[in-house]
Amino acid sequence: MAKYRIAWMPGDGVGNDVMDAAKIVLDALKFDAEYVPADIGWEFWCNEGDPLPQRTLDILKETDCALFGAITSKPNDEAQQELAPELQGKGLVYFSPIVRLRQTFNLHTNMRPCKAYPGNPLNYRDDVDQVVFRENTEGSYGGVEFFPLPESVYDALCLNPKMKPWKKKGLENVALSTRIMSKQGCESICRQAFEFARTHGRKRVTLVEKPNVLRETGGLMTRVFRSVAKDYPGIEQDEANIDAICMWMLKNPQFYDVLVAENMFGDIISDLCAGLVGGLGFASAANIGDEYAVFEPTHGSAPKYAGKHVVNPMAMLLTVKLMFDWLKEPDLATRLEKAVATVIEENKVATYDVRGVRAGQPGANSTLEVAEEVARKL
Ligand code: IPM
Ligand code: MG
Repeated sequence: MAKYRIAWMPGDGVGNDVMDAAKIVLDALKFDAEYVPADIGWEFWCNEGDPLPQRTLDILKETDCALFGAITSKPNDEAQQELAPELQGKGLVYFSPIVRLRQTFNLHTNMRPCKAYPGNPLNYRDDVDQVVFRENTEGSYGGVEFFPLPESVYDALCLNPKMKPWKKKGLENVALSTRIMSKQGCESICRQAFEFARTHGRKRVTLVEKPNVLRETGGLMTRVFRSVAKDYPGIEQDEANIDAICMWMLKNPQFYDVLVAENMFGDIISDLCAGLVGGLGFASAANIGDEYAVFEPTHGSAPKYAGKHVVNPMAMLLTVKLMFDWLKEPDLATRLEKAVATVIEENKVATYDVRGVRAGQPGANSTLEVAEEVARKL
């Protein structure tokens, strides 16, 4: 029997392409695992009305962790149109399967390293080495949203005098999304960020929030952050507003080290940080819970490139490295990261994003060629 059982979820779009690349490297490392394919993605929404079927949840429950490629998420109107005709009009509502996975398995921590590997011509600066800790289950991702507003919700809101302007506009014209955060959620993500900083010799943890406007949720997060920080006197604590840090991050990215944020701000800031180190082609991510984890690169499914094997596999390969870290396989993690770093530094084999040519045009290597080059360096 293999040492590990890994749920294998390419998803859709370029998810398949980058998972093919992952397989090349996993095989070259002789990783002792059984891969259990699991259905997830747009195709299953269109044909079955559920992008994350129950059979997939069952598979995840029987595996050690999951590797995930990418998934297409579209706004509700478009999702309805693409549903098979026999499923239309049945009240099915599309909800992002990755967001659902994070919630179903309580994968509360999204860890997203953004490191400028030496020699990457796309580095904004060479001294960027950040790790974003994003709360992964709460905030505006809880799915508590309304349109049209149920009367009970509207009436309850109207007890607040600040609702006056919307009262004038009328119940039928108002949509509502919520940002719900708990003390436990804030505490957990802040503590993970500081623990990571402590165990990895990092000097500073920065909270990304907006407590001057989002007084209650932002206020709670800020209070919790300050209180957790007291347990880590050797680590500098720093606070930034989400808007201001978007500017500071471009002026002084080397100032930032570990960043911690609630769900939506973590989503935003992790794309920004990825942009500093070569873009989404280099951005890895881990959704981590107490007992289970799903490893997925930060990038999306880029449907126009699906199946063409042109996209950069490095984000996926670095995501596999995060899986090794989590499985406590430090030798595999180190070998893989070194091989990735060598291929980046040599810059002989690289995809179109690095080469600055159009995807699929001469001058750029394919997804699989890059993975094979990494495999050779192992
Ligand atoms: C991410 C993505 C997802 C998110 C989307 C695809 C739902 O942007 O993982 O960062 O917003 O969390
Ligand atoms: Mg995102």
